Amino acid sequence: MPAPRIAPSILSADFGRLRGQVEEIVAAGASVIHVDVMDGHFVPPLSMGPQVVSALADLGVMLDVHLMVERPERQVADFASAGASQITVHAEATPHVHYALQAVRDAGCRAGLAINPGTPVGALEGVELDCALVMTVNPGWGGQAFIPASLERIRRVRDLIGPDAELEVDGGIDASTAGPCAEAGASLFVAGSAIFGKDDPAAAYAAIAAAAGA
Ligand code: DX5
Ligand code: ZN
Repeated sequence: MPAPRIAPSILSADFGRLRGQVEEIVAAGASVIHVDVMDGHFVPPLSMGPQVVSALADLGVMLDVHLMVERPERQVADFASAGASQITVHAEATPHVHYALQAVRDAGCRAGLAINPGTPVGALEGVELDCALVMTVNPGWGGQAFIPASLERIRRVRDLIGPDAELEVDGGIDASTAGPCAEAGASLFVAGSAIFGKDDPAAAYAAIAAAAGA
């Protein structure tokens, strides 16, 4: 299995001092930064676009872009040229999943496919993936509670994708939920409010990393 890593989500960061917050968490050990993109359609809120990826592109970390947008294939080129390392699209957001993933690869990025809590895990079958993202809350907002039934889904996805692929979990991940997710087969752990929502993000990062075995 890939070595466990934590991906702090900047959705919960203080945008007035975004770069400083990211530098602080990178200094604490983070090598992946998760960027949540929302379009006001696939999920109700609007969040951020490729400009934010560009602004962080020189930091030398993996920029993990999570597209919660309809027809994500139309956005791939802009995020790739902004400096995304991995681009994840939602299975529910396009009738052209295979095409979208191919577009991500053709743009030189790792290709991820995400499934919502209500989507059958079989949606991850039959396409070439670098990363499977199992949503452990319904997408759209930080700070929600982890859905316990996710653990069984993580186990089934790990069986489906095999031991070598990245399995990312996103939503409600903290020092108490990261351990059970790791046991179930997760290797990449997104955490937003449990890191940037805390007074000491570096200490919070360290606690989640320890729980995940990272
Ligand atoms: C939710 C986003 C998450 C969000 C997680 O739709 O995809 O990445 O930042 O936030 P927490 O860790 O607070 O649940
Ligand atoms: Zn996310």
